Amino acid sequence: MIDFHSHVLPGIDDGSRDTDESLKLLKMCSEQGVTKIAATPHFYPNDDTPERFLRRRNEAALRLKERLFDGAPEIILGAEVYYFSGISTNESVGQLRLGNTGILLLEMPFAKWSPSMVSEILDLHGRNGITVMMAHIERYLGFQSADVWDSLLKHGVIMQSNAGFFTDWRTKRRALKMLRSGRIHVLGSDCHNTKDRTENMGKAYEILNGRDREYLKDNEEYIIRIGVK
Ligand SMILES: [Fe+2]
Repeated sequence: MIDFHSHVLPGIDDGSRDTDESLKLLKMCSEQGVTKIAATPHFYPNDDTPERFLRRRNEAALRLKERLFDGAPEIILGAEVYYFSGISTNESVGQLRLGNTGILLLEMPFAKWSPSMVSEILDLHGRNGITVMMAHIERYLGFQSADVWDSLLKHGVIMQSNAGFFTDWRTKRRALKMLRSGRIHVLGSDCHNTKDRTENMGKAYEILNGRDREYLKDNEEYIIRIGVK
């Protein structure tokens, strides 16, 4: 099981405060059957440059690595990149892809996206070596019309949903329907801490049937292969 979205690295964003908390989160991952976890700290283009972000991220990863326990899930370094105008032509943004895949986890504003924003997502997605993965798509559903989703799906944009979309009884039915109609491709915990935004992939998987799990496994394998250099 791969957790495609997390704030598990210590002291880098509003996620895990320190290495102890990161280790607790990783223990929870192991207990829940997570074998790989994408560490995707927030990248905010107004506050940071990709180069400075990568330096900070790699330092945090090193601090954690020094204390990793046997059987800890494999950590794949990435970023949760906040959309900005010009992202599709930015030279440095490709460095924020997930591990050695072509995946770029993209966070969007919580508002209706303009047609030019949608076309910029598609331009970014079409760029050599980049496949866009939309972060926690359930948060944007109410803002966009159906044709926006159809267009992104048609172009092969990958849709990541948070595990919480499945574990919340109010949204569970909708989440399952979207998964089973190919509108959600992968899950992530988006875990930030050990209290109220914690690792919950195992809980989401309890809701899934065998066929759902197979579907997610196939997608995971496919995604990890994409763009491997
Ligand atoms: Fe996040």
